[in-house]
Amino acid sequence: MFWAPGRVNLIGEHTDYSGGLVLPAAISRGVTISGAPANRIELQSELDGTKALLAADGSSPQPQSGWARFVEAVARELDDLGRPPVGIAGTLASDVPVGAGLASSAALEVAIATALCAVADWDALTPLELALACQRAELRAVGVPCGILDQAASVLGEEGAAIYLDCASLEHETVPLPEGIAIVVVDSGLRHRLEHSAYAERRRELDEAIVVLGGRRPADFSVDEADELASAGGLDDLRRRRLRHVVSENERVRAFVGALRSTPIDTRLLGAILWEGHASQRDDYETSTPELDGLVERAYEHGAVGARMTGGGFGGSIVALVDTERANEFADAIVDTVSGETSAFVCSAGAGAGELVSCS
Ligand code: GLA
Repeated sequence: MFWAPGRVNLIGEHTDYSGGLVLPAAISRGVTISGAPANRIELQSELDGTKALLAADGSSPQPQSGWARFVEAVARELDDLGRPPVGIAGTLASDVPVGAGLASSAALEVAIATALCAVADWDALTPLELALACQRAELRAVGVPCGILDQAASVLGEEGAAIYLDCASLEHETVPLPEGIAIVVVDSGLRHRLEHSAYAERRRELDEAIVVLGGRRPADFSVDEADELASAGGLDDLRRRRLRHVVSENERVRAFVGALRSTPIDTRLLGAILWEGHASQRDDYETSTPELDGLVERAYEHGAVGARMTGGGFGGSIVALVDTERANEFADAIVDTVSGETSAFVCSAGAGAGELVSCS
């Protein structure tokens, strides 16, 4: 049995693809694959019985559809890296809601990659090399030019801690989360699909904006410095706001990590940083929705330490930090106050991908 988690991102949104800073935590929901070595890849979904059927190296005569596209893309990426062509026969299950901003596709990719490497007895890749192969697989499977955030969180997760990752150098540290504070995910029920969303458009707008930084990354500038360069470079209002979000978001990641590492922890500061992060996504990066804005406001009204939308945006979930003792009550209360498909669950920061049980 192989398992890979989804993630929440605590802060550092849309910073990964310009070599910036992120602070995700793997969650205790993920994708599980049960399987044994075989001469082809044959995986069946426990959810709806659909199948991925491919040669052991991931090739197939017909184009794949649905989740099988990810199996194909991961297997092909690993084949390019020299994985011996050993297949797997088994089943696949997931409890990460799809399109909820919790990196369900990264959990799927990393679970497949972990399983395929294990059945072939191939341990040539470091966890981050495996994550990078899965990031390329996302582009290959569904054309989403994502950063490394989701796949890195899925391989690096640690119990009780967030992962402070520099997406340029891939250097990372774990940052313990305060005891007594739980992570509550509130899923708006509004589904995003990054392949059809404005994700690629945001990336392009940011690429156009960072031209004024002369080859350096947004994480190396203060908001004032970046603003001056934006003026000097004649950026239009939209690109100036896109840049401001990313520059200020990197600053917020540093400030949030600093706040988590100080004693005693200033929870009001944590809450203020998350609030500013959400406002920046809403106003400058324009990746939020009125429903997510409303949920974040409700979360503060219901006593969350802090809350913001999490993940790519355009729908999906918010993440709230809440006193553990009140977490279940908070989750119920927030669902009660909104109509529609909203749901909530309490989770904790959990371990990254790996083999759960070996029968050999
Ligand atoms: C999606 C992408 C990530 C990252 C986030 C936004 O989850 O897969 O790479 O860009 O959006 O922070």
